[in-house]
Amino acid sequence: KRGGSDEAKRRAGEAAAEAVADGQVVGLGTGSTAAHAIRALGRAVDAGLDVEGIPTSYQSRELAREVGVPLTTLDDATPDIAIDGADQVADGDLIKGGGAAHAREKLVDAAADRFLVVADESKLADRLSVPVPVEVLPDAREPVAASIRDLGGEPDLRLAERKDGPVVTDNGNLVLDCDFGEIDDPAALAADLSACPGVLEHGLFVDLADAIYVGTDDGATVRER
Ligand code: A5P
Repeated sequence: KRGGSDEAKRRAGEAAAEAVADGQVVGLGTGSTAAHAIRALGRAVDAGLDVEGIPTSYQSRELAREVGVPLTTLDDATPDIAIDGADQVADGDLIKGGGAAHAREKLVDAAADRFLVVADESKLADRLSVPVPVEVLPDAREPVAASIRDLGGEPDLRLAERKDGPVVTDNGNLVLDCDFGEIDDPAALAADLSACPGVLEHGLFVDLADAIYVGTDDGATVRER
C-alpha cells in the first residue's frame, strides 16, 4: 500500500465523511484513504443519513454497494461534495492516478460543488514530484510518449502486477507514468498534457481542491483553500 499508516488514512477519511450533510450527493473517491470515507458513509447511512454516491471507479462502486451507500450517476445528479485521496499534495495541487482511476476521479471531483482531499501526512510535499499518470488511448501510446519526452518527461508504461502486459484502465486505456522531476509550474504542464492528442486524462489536479483533510495517527486537521 502507498502512503502512511492506515490509522492516519482512516482519520482523514472519517473526518471528511463527517462533512457530508443529509440529502447530499457525494462523489466517492478511489484508493485506501477514500475507502475509509466510503465505509464511514455506509455506517452513517445505516444510522439514517440520506445520501447518494457517485463512484469514481469500479473499486469505489463495489465498496459502496458492500457498505450500503445508494448510488447514482452524473447523468442523474451533480455531486454536492466529493471526497478523494491523492498520491501527492503540494500547495493544494495534487497528483492522482496511482490506482489508474484519475480520469473518472477528475470528472466527478471537478463536478462537485466542494472537493475534499483526504491524505496522510506522507503525501504532503513542497513541490509536486512523483510521476504523473497519463491515461492514453491504446493507439496513442507511442505518439504521446514522444510528446511527453518533448515536454521534458520520461514516460513509463504501467505494467500489471498479476497479469502479463500493461494495466488497462476502467475505461479500456493504458497508463504512462511520466517522471518530470520537480514540477515548477503544474498549471502549465497540465495544459500541455491536456493538449496532446490521444491523452484521455492526466493526474495533475490543479486548483480543484477546496479543502485538504490531513490525517495523522492522532487525528485530522483541515486546511481550507
Ligand atoms: C486512484 O487513481 C488515485 O488517484 C488515488 O486516489 C490515490 O492513489 C490515493 O490512494 P491511497 O489513498 O490508497 O494512497
